[in-house]
Amino acid sequence: TAASPSTCASTHLLSRSYYYAGSSPERKVAILGAAGGIGQPLALLMKLNPFVSSLSLYDIANTPGVAADVSHINSPAQVSGYVGEEELGKSLEGSDLVIIPAGVPRKPGMTRDDLFNINAGIVKSLCVAIAKYCPNALVNMISNPVNSTVPIAAEVFKKAGTYDEKKLFGVTTLDVVRAKTFYAGKAKVPVADVDVPVIGGHAGITILPLFSQATPKANLPDDDIEALTKRTQDGGTEVVEAKAGKGSATLSMAYAGAVFADACIKGLNGVPDVVECSFVQSSVTELPFFASQVKLGKNGVEKVYGLGLLSEFEKQSLEKLKPELKASIEKGIKFANQN
Ligand code: NAI
Repeated sequence: TAASPSTCASTHLLSRSYYYAGSSPERKVAILGAAGGIGQPLALLMKLNPFVSSLSLYDIANTPGVAADVSHINSPAQVSGYVGEEELGKSLEGSDLVIIPAGVPRKPGMTRDDLFNINAGIVKSLCVAIAKYCPNALVNMISNPVNSTVPIAAEVFKKAGTYDEKKLFGVTTLDVVRAKTFYAGKAKVPVADVDVPVIGGHAGITILPLFSQATPKANLPDDDIEALTKRTQDGGTEVVEAKAGKGSATLSMAYAGAVFADACIKGLNGVPDVVECSFVQSSVTELPFFASQVKLGKNGVEKVYGLGLLSEFEKQSLEKLKPELKASIEKGIKFANQN
């Protein structure tokens, strides 16, 4: 690991230079779970991405309609829809990047771990197909519980002999997006200028925003920092409760997923200094997977950055989150090897 970079690369979707698009290589992106609450707006955003030449939309139901709809947008990406398991292989062939938002979302009162029983099996079968049909693709895992689904994917790929730790990412970008938004509001600074690294995992207290490293600096009092930390950790639950049984974050998640996918594609295309937080195989702590800032390059992860200087509160929060994150990782590994 290396020292923390001073700032994250700009992640604003609209700030990309369209100049690059003409000279960049063809890139195929597949979305698995493309007809869902996240999948549909994510398909829309990836269709708008000028670096995507082919957009493959897979789901167990309803993808033909989503694909027909999105395909009418006058941007370069060629859209194809695939429905049902027999079309999964075809949807994946030749993919450079596979984004996985397939699975059930939370309802009020549920933790992300409550989704394990259903989503673990879905993720496992999708990863078996990825290992077979596009073993070199980068994988962006959105399906929860990310703290367990990423280790499941790693085990599936290891068994298939295709595992490359540089190519597997748990998408924690929504935690960063939330931390930036909430910090900007509290610190009264322009949100577009804000950067906040978020480390750990993607569930409750395992989500640890490092507001001591937030820029622009605002010197917020401790109780504000603690409240912002809690709001970031509970951001998903805030949406689940507001939607009152109709699912979890979909629109902000699609935005976050598109930001992270865009960063991955830029990395593949050789754009320098692309840095995002992600839950990846890591030696930053004693845990085998951990979210921290990651530099993206032509082969996926180019560098996993260390945590930088932590405040006392962050140091304590880090120690508190480790047992839960460790248990979730082990649960995923155990599932993948037993079933
Ligand atoms: P949704 O229920 O609206 O959509 C899920 C889609 O997955 C459905 O279209 C369904 O047909 C499809 N699906 C189910 N089994 C499948 C399979 N075997 N292959 C392909 N597709 C399959 O759910 P939503 O709201 O889109 O959430 C999806 C996942 O994303 C959930 O697990 C949720 O917890 C997670 N999530 C992750 C976040 C993160 O920050 N990483 C944030 C918000 C949600």
